[in-house]
Amino acid sequence: MPVWETTGLALSCHPPTPEHIALPWDAADDYLLHFAVAQPTLTINDRHGALSCALTQKGIPLVNWHDSANACETTRRNHQNNQLKLEAGQIILSEDQIPSSTRQVLIKLPKNLEQLKFWLQCARERLPHDTRYLLAGMVKHMPVSWLNWLEQEAATYRQEQVVRKARLLELTFTPLTSTAHSWSGYQTDSGLTLSGLPGVFSRQQHDIGSRVLLEHTDLPFGGTLCDLGCGNGLLGLTLKQAHPELNLILTDDSWLAVRSAQHNARQNQLDVCVRHGDILAEVREPLDWIVCNPPFHDGHKQLTNIAERMFEQSAKALISGGRLLVIANRHLPYAGKLRRLFQTVEVLSADSRFSLYLCQKR
Ligand SMILES: C[S@@+](CC[C@H](N)C(=O)[O-])C[C@H]1O[C@@H](n2cnc3c(N)ncnc32)[C@H](O)[C@@H]1O
Repeated sequence: MPVWETTGLALSCHPPTPEHIALPWDAADDYLLHFAVAQPTLTINDRHGALSCALTQKGIPLVNWHDSANACETTRRNHQNNQLKLEAGQIILSEDQIPSSTRQVLIKLPKNLEQLKFWLQCARERLPHDTRYLLAGMVKHMPVSWLNWLEQEAATYRQEQVVRKARLLELTFTPLTSTAHSWSGYQTDSGLTLSGLPGVFSRQQHDIGSRVLLEHTDLPFGGTLCDLGCGNGLLGLTLKQAHPELNLILTDDSWLAVRSAQHNARQNQLDVCVRHGDILAEVREPLDWIVCNPPFHDGHKQLTNIAERMFEQSAKALISGGRLLVIANRHLPYAGKLRRLFQTVEVLSADSRFSLYLCQKR
């Protein structure tokens, strides 16, 4: 297990990722750790819990705000592996659980500005003006337009120099009065109204890949179907609309996606079950069908490891003869993996951008 030199902590990514591809910490974590003071702290987007372990080690009281079920689990594991105590209440999923006693917010920059704006809005609605915000990320992931926006928005703004390609900002903000969260949405081709919270995949428009999959709603869907990595619920809810007798389970690693899919099921009066979990961790039912538009990024890195784990777990969770329908960008090397796991793999459609695979279990 790799050891974070600054802290002596032995930390791992979950699922394990080769060290040459990703480590559970980076120079931005070092930067945040260096500037953090002993005040009640909220960490946001600490993907593998590295920062959280280091702060616990220093005795700094903290709460970790995660969106990802996998990040929650990885944070727990890394604490356990380093004999560090982590109470259940120290991991939160929802902005309503942000402790009002927080005086320091440490943020690892996310992939999109929308998500950062959402976190800051939630924190500013709940925390006083003297709360210190430290934001850090790798320079290549921090466009000047983000810095400009932050400088305009902040009450005080200080930029530290770039160290080992990481940048750190120290900010304070005037508090905000509570506002309604920015749901954003569209109408699908089949007439569903879908909305999503910031950061949820394709929340403002119909993703092209999903559209290719949904040209095949006339496949013989039946029994229990799982929409794996459901996002705002587009795939599963459209299939439930077309086949009302389906027993539909939607699941996603992202809590904001789960909230969005739940909201959309209610709005469209569709009776479904939505669960928050890493891949199929929360789905125990034997499945007749799985539909999936898998992610091919983990944070900023383009990786196929999540999709591959999705295929492996799908092959286990399906009943004999059960089917997995996967839509994927054409350049992604999924066919070989799918052929090793399933008895038959049929390419239902392929154009210059997407391939649709129908895989059947023996
Ligand atoms: C390409 S999006 C597809 C969303 C939706 N199904 C659609 O087609 O519009 C991939 C989804 O997988 C989810 N995801 C990423 N990692 C996951 C994991 N480990 N377990 C479950 N879902 C995951 C993401 O949060 C995202 O919602």
